[in-house]
Amino acid sequence: MPKSKVTKPPVKADEKTAEPKKRSSKHPQLLRGMKDILPESQKYWNYVRKLVEQLAEDYTYEMIDTPILEETSLFTRSVGENTDIVEKEMFSFEDKSGTNVSMRPENTAGIVRAYIEHGMLDRPQPVRLFYWGPFFRYDRPQAGRYRQFHQFGFEAIGDNNPIIDAQLIVMCQSIYNTIGIPVVTQINSVGCKKCRKDYEQLFTDYLSSRKKFLCEDCKRRLVKNPLRVLDCKVKECKEILADAPHIVDHLDEECKEHFVKVLEYLDEADIAYQLNPFLVRGLDYYTRTTFEIWPEKDDGSQSALGGGGRYDDLTEMLGGRPTPACGFAGGVERLVISMREKEIVIPQPEPPDVFVAQLGESAKKKALRLVEDLRIKGIRAASNFSKEGLKYQLSVAARLRVKFSLILGQKEMLDKTILLRDMEGGSQEVIDYNKVYVELKNRLEKTKAIIQNRNNQIEE
Ligand code: HAM
Repeated sequence: MPKSKVTKPPVKADEKTAEPKKRSSKHPQLLRGMKDILPESQKYWNYVRKLVEQLAEDYTYEMIDTPILEETSLFTRSVGENTDIVEKEMFSFEDKSGTNVSMRPENTAGIVRAYIEHGMLDRPQPVRLFYWGPFFRYDRPQAGRYRQFHQFGFEAIGDNNPIIDAQLIVMCQSIYNTIGIPVVTQINSVGCKKCRKDYEQLFTDYLSSRKKFLCEDCKRRLVKNPLRVLDCKVKECKEILADAPHIVDHLDEECKEHFVKVLEYLDEADIAYQLNPFLVRGLDYYTRTTFEIWPEKDDGSQSALGGGGRYDDLTEMLGGRPTPACGFAGGVERLVISMREKEIVIPQPEPPDVFVAQLGESAKKKALRLVEDLRIKGIRAASNFSKEGLKYQLSVAARLRVKFSLILGQKEMLDKTILLRDMEGGSQEVIDYNKVYVELKNRLEKTKAIIQNRNNQIEE
């Protein structure tokens, strides 16, 4: 008999492709590259968010929210005018006052703007900030690439010590390790303004002699911003780049020492990394360390789960005082796709304490109040008022995994009582309605103690 093939459950289309269904003129549909995060996906999102928030708390990073809409010049001056993000991918428009605005394609620029604008230089340095939110890039949608996507990120502003870079990498790896996604850190150094100048000349000379083989975009980049050729994904350009001089071989003494220190700290922390001389990242603001977190088994698409690096010149580029900084951002959608592919099990949330079921109009009215009264007193009560039948309501209670249900019918209304049903054994007892809170609380505490006892015995 042929062996039956074990097939993994497919990753949901809404997570993976971001492709909308066929357009119909009958009703509005999702825009291309956008996606809904449906209730059944939220457990992954909540889990990642809680993990990131806990990590931020552990490493004393404080939450910051910046606006989705910023002046376009913020991104042209920081991310860079000749980068793909600014040239091709920004959602930009003129607002009603005639200001050129863009929906943020990333957050480092916005955070540095906020750092300067709110005088954070006067706070103890480094200022450690973290964020979570939506970002927008008008790119060609494909697996793991959307026009609206979400990032979490950490920025440490005001310290040039290489241990900051290493600690950020330790933090990032910890997220993926905790979740159970095997990753590898790719790392490089792109040096500083000074050492990059010499390298740029060397690199331009190398490319100029091969110009005719470059794609049209790269021919243009060669004149305007040669280093951006290193971001090119076109096969012919990649082949030319394979023999190009490496920036890491042309670092000045200070940058070299900084990079060596970052690597030493990573070795000390037992963090595995791969040196990648082509990792310049597609944004102009980087200096010295650049790094990306890749899935361990990369399928060739090199869809990084996250990336970051040092940006010591960015504060100055945006009009502030020179302030060294380093940061990282992770893509949430790509992480959730990996979690689903790896069938990562999310710890189930605690079920509600009780389900309130009712029969008849007057019981329904009373139950409405009871649910809210219990909630205010700290008992999480679930209900479903949409259907009348008791059987249906109890099936909802079972699905919610509650230990107890309260049942209020016409008889109980007349007697001023309520039924308390143990959902596991199915036994029911009549309780004085006025004592419902006390009785329920006792039962819940008893059940909790039994479970605790059982868990202790298992541990022993
Ligand atoms: P980035 O590499 O452009 O860096 O983006 C970081 C991560 O966001 C990517 O590795 C990827 O997981 C996710 N991402 C980017 N574009 C998309 C997209 N179109 N669809 C889905 N996910 C996407 C930055 O944004 C820098 N601001 C990171 C940083 C922080 N550098 C220093 N501090």
